[in-house]
Amino acid sequence: MTEQLYMTMNDGYKIPVVGLGTWKSEPGDSTYNAVLDSINAGYRHIDTARAYDNESDVGRAVNDADVPREDLFITTKLWNKDQGYETALEACEKSLARLNCNHIDLYLIHWPLKGKRNDSWKAFIELQEQGLCKSIGVSNFTIDNLKELDSKYGVLPAVNQVEFHPYHYQKDLLDYCNSKNIIIEAYSPLVHAKRMDEVRLVAISEELSRTPAQVLIRWAMQRRMVVLPKSVNKDRIIENFSVFDFEISDSIMKRLDDLDERYVTCWDPHNPPPYAPV
Ligand SMILES: NC(=O)c1ccc[n+]([C@@H]2O[C@H](COP(=O)([O-])OP(=O)(O)OC[C@H]3O[C@@H](n4cnc5c(N)ncnc54)[C@H](OP(=O)(O)O)[C@@H]3O)[C@@H](O)[C@H]2O)c1
Repeated sequence: MTEQLYMTMNDGYKIPVVGLGTWKSEPGDSTYNAVLDSINAGYRHIDTARAYDNESDVGRAVNDADVPREDLFITTKLWNKDQGYETALEACEKSLARLNCNHIDLYLIHWPLKGKRNDSWKAFIELQEQGLCKSIGVSNFTIDNLKELDSKYGVLPAVNQVEFHPYHYQKDLLDYCNSKNIIIEAYSPLVHAKRMDEVRLVAISEELSRTPAQVLIRWAMQRRMVVLPKSVNKDRIIENFSVFDFEISDSIMKRLDDLDERYVTCWDPHNPPPYAPV
């Protein structure tokens, strides 16, 4: 079985570099089986969220797995309707109950909701002090949002989970986060499966004798990110984890960087949807 790799966050905790994404993994057996298949394949990191409606299936699989809870790393996220100080504290307790565990390894503010995100962060700092969340972080935060948290609280997030792949190479954000010791977690690292047949990616995957998905995941790892491919298909779950035994050369990394076209598959904090102002 392949061994997981780890990065160290700014709070001293370690985070497994490849995690299983679970957005759009159907609640019930689909999510339960995907999480168990991933753990059996060697994954030690699962990414869920209140909004995915599958926390309890993740919790069930984690409890049934043959790997001790302390060897697994579980992330969940605070949804927008629960943002705010008191509501965030309550939402964390509810997520813990659904996950059926006594701590969350990494709790994220899902979106930088205007007028609420700072109060949510205040609650997160307390949740970390209480030990209910080992690490705390954010998602979809811009550089300005990160600077605001820093100036108000002086506690920087351990990670910022954002859309990141060669077709949306957010180099400024990555450089800023590296300078502040904030790890970028790359979500939609497979471009939500919308670029698997793209000719330049296919050409590179043929040169490397790897699949397009493996090339995309390895690119994110070599750009020093945590990477969260989602699949509910056992073969693909295994394929997406078979990324520790090859390296992409500098010249091919540069060709992948050059695929950037600011292609956003998910929601964009620089162009926020009306229901989630930033
Ligand atoms: N914080 C946020 O706002 C946010 C937003 C989006 C995503 N995320 C997180 O990031 C995770 C990943 O992002 P994502 O789900 O948007 O997209 P993704 O991982 O880029 O792509 C998932 C899609 O690729 C397919 N796929 C998986 N492995 C494949 C392979 N080896 N070859 C071909 N197709 C493959 C999956 O289908 P099958 O399942 O059928 O294999 C699915 O349709 C999410 O699940 C979630 O945990 C967070």
